[in-house]
Amino acid sequence: MTTSTRIKRIVDLCKSVKTAADIGADHGLTSAALLWRGLAERIIASDISEKSIAKAQALFSERGLADKTECRVGDGIQVLQPGEAEGIVISGMGGQMILHILQDRPEVVRKADWLVISPQSNVDLVRSSLPQMHLCIEEEDIVEEDGKYYPIMRIVPAQAQAYTSAECFTGKPELMRSKERFLEYMEYMINKFQTIVDQAQDSPELPRLQVRLDMYKAARQKGMQL
Ligand SMILES: C[S@@+](CC[C@H](N)C(=O)[O-])C[C@H]1O[C@@H](n2cnc3c(N)ncnc32)[C@H](O)[C@@H]1O
Repeated sequence: MTTSTRIKRIVDLCKSVKTAADIGADHGLTSAALLWRGLAERIIASDISEKSIAKAQALFSERGLADKTECRVGDGIQVLQPGEAEGIVISGMGGQMILHILQDRPEVVRKADWLVISPQSNVDLVRSSLPQMHLCIEEEDIVEEDGKYYPIMRIVPAQAQAYTSAECFTGKPELMRSKERFLEYMEYMINKFQTIVDQAQDSPELPRLQVRLDMYKAARQKGMQL
């Protein structure tokens, strides 16, 4: 089965459950990979767009997965009853949208064993908001696709750990599945912010940018010592 490395990494962070939900399923590839890998016996695939869910449905029929999948159209986890899915995947959306989805139905989130989320923006906001929702990051990974880096986190309903403001941007190195991938990502961010800092020498933004650069350097240092 051909699936992107991004989706493979998302699925790698999922744990075995009876029913998993793929929220914002779109093409349905994550759902199909979860079934193919034996990580779920049954999938609830949902999307806010009817067109997207039709794509997922077509994929499931084509791959003989129709009897193991249920497709729903709706907003976020409003499509789920509490306890209906022990595992929930929400990927390929901005961080604010993912937070909105989580905050919208706390009773569904609380009843899940785990959620794997992959925010494509505002990752600092996501990490800093999780404790208010009593969600704890259990493990993280990073994936690069088409020159962009995407964080992936498995979160669980539990007393959340404290994150410094720097860790909200970088993540905690000790929670990363792959030290090599974490260091590669830190290297990428250091190069990116070094270039920005170099070009912002006369800007009032310089101190803030320098702080960001130093955060990534410190996280790389910590990661290298693990
Ligand atoms: C870029 S695709 C990501 C597909 C897949 N999850 C992935 O990671 O490749 C985003 C999908 O999320 C859906 N979506 C956006 N907002 C949503 C919401 N509030 N509830 C459910 N689905 C949503 C979109 O319709 C789209 O199909």
